[in-house]
Amino acid sequence: MKIAIGSDHAGYQLKEAVKQYLILSLKIETEDCGCFSPEPVDYPDIAEIVASLILKNKADKGILICGTGIGMCVSANKFPGIRAALCHEPVSAYFSSAHNDANILTMGGRIIGAEVAKAVVKIWLETDFQKGHHSRRLEKIHIQEQKNAC
Ligand code: RB5
Repeated sequence: MKIAIGSDHAGYQLKEAVKQYLILSLKIETEDCGCFSPEPVDYPDIAEIVASLILKNKADKGILICGTGIGMCVSANKFPGIRAALCHEPVSAYFSSAHNDANILTMGGRIIGAEVAKAVVKIWLETDFQKGHHSRRLEKIHIQEQKNAC
């Protein structure tokens, strides 16, 4: 399992905390896609780096953090094959894996603290996709992506 993680400036501090948690506590290989300081950066640029690593099978899943998690979620979901979920508590995180097979988790550094974020990350990673009728729904999303491609 390899996780690509990225943030903009507003998510930088939380990204650093989550990265340390992945590496030191969960022992998960992690690729930091930036940003690397609190200097302002545009969240779509970081979302593109993380989404591309997943779509090229160079990472299994991704975590993206901005101020609210919304910009990262909107941006990542523009890439066909990405299912990004904004989760600020463990119940949403559980279902984003179990029902939506979310391959990117987004969070807001201005919304939650590090301890809640760690709990969200842990349950998101530990929960398996339930397949069954949920697979049919994801297949419909896949078809919609193809139908609406430019
Ligand atoms: C940056 O100020 C902020 O707009 C960004 O981090 C994010 O919250 C956007 O959704």
